Amino acid sequence: MSVARIAVVAGDGIGPEVVAQARKVLDAVLPGVEATEYDLGAARYHRTGEVLPESVLAELADHDAILLGAVGDPTVPPGVLERGLLLRLRFDFDQYVNLRPSRLWPGTTGPLASVKPGEIDLVVVREGTEGLYAGAGGALHRDTPAEVATEESLNTRHGVERVIRDAFARAGRRERRKVTLVHKTNVLTHAGSLWARAFAAVAAEHPDVETEYQHVDAAAMFLVTQPQRYDVVVTDNLFGDILTDIAAAVTGGIGLAASGSINPERTYPSMFEPVHGSAPDIAGQGLADPVAAVLSVSLLLDHLGHPEAAERVSNAVAAELASRTPGERGSTAEIGDRLVAHAAG
Ligand code: NAD
Ligand code: IPM
Ligand code: MN
Repeated sequence: MSVARIAVVAGDGIGPEVVAQARKVLDAVLPGVEATEYDLGAARYHRTGEVLPESVLAELADHDAILLGAVGDPTVPPGVLERGLLLRLRFDFDQYVNLRPSRLWPGTTGPLASVKPGEIDLVVVREGTEGLYAGAGGALHRDTPAEVATEESLNTRHGVERVIRDAFARAGRRERRKVTLVHKTNVLTHAGSLWARAFAAVAAEHPDVETEYQHVDAAAMFLVTQPQRYDVVVTDNLFGDILTDIAAAVTGGIGLAASGSINPERTYPSMFEPVHGSAPDIAGQGLADPVAAVLSVSLLLDHLGHPEAAERVSNAVAAELASRTPGERGSTAEIGDRLVAHAAG
């Protein structure tokens, strides 16, 4: 029997380049993983018209976890792959905890002169299955002057409360024990009120956890001016999408940002994926930084109950980042080789 059965969806653009490095590191720290590659993404769509056949979805469900590179390609209309493949997986596998840690690693020069390595260590718990991503809404009178489009945000008490519970549980296991709710309660009064009341109810069960609330516009500013103030941030799907690109930017860039799309109940496989996309501007040139994908493997290993292997991966990343010379990091595969060497040594 294998130690773990992993489905690999490398996807589009730089996805296959960074996933190849992530797999090398995974094999180095946990021999015996059974990895099955699934050919999904732009190439399959052009070849067959398929985005995610039901039979493939059923096969993916029968794995311990999914490792995903990136999806989306300029030759495919926006949304076809993003919604049809990536969001379909997050929704169908009920991956409601979209976990996005950000650290300013020693050796990494972020863009903020005021922040020293080690001073940013936050995790965004982004709701992953509701909000504006639910796909509610519609369009009328297309291509006429009377055209109307609506996009509705779905928020259920069940969906909101369970992700807030996860954020508090995580904060309780961290040193600072603080949760910041980010929303826009001053304008989005229906959903905002639901989030605020669910947050207050869960907070009452965790008197040991410090709480704070910020409107999303202020949070966007504070993530740049005072990112040190955050520990755990819990927020809705779209706010979390945007804030985690900012968090990535202030901690050395999107090439270092990992994520897990997690189904905590383990009814379905969780999915581990870099925060970044397919980066068509640099695809195929060996320019992509594989660290985000490799750190996603660390999250995967933690989730599957291999904390020591997970730590070996994050230690390898720490060693890589501590020894980097700005502007001379080498090719995607060279970085992957160095990470394997660090992980092995
Ligand atoms: P992107 O993250 O692909 O790229 C934004 C910028 O960051 C680009 O300049 C790119 O070169 C750079 N970048 C990204 N990853 C990098 C890495 N590992 N190393 C170095 N530089 C890196 O975002 P985008 O350009 O807005 O989107 C491109 C496509 O990817 C779109 O189709 C989008 O829908 C899709 N997308 C997919 C995911 C995902 O699969 N999870 C996430 C975001 C975007
Ligand atoms: C991300 C991406 C996705 C999202 C898109 C591609 C659907 O931006 O993983 O952050 O918005 O969640
Ligand atoms: Mn995003």
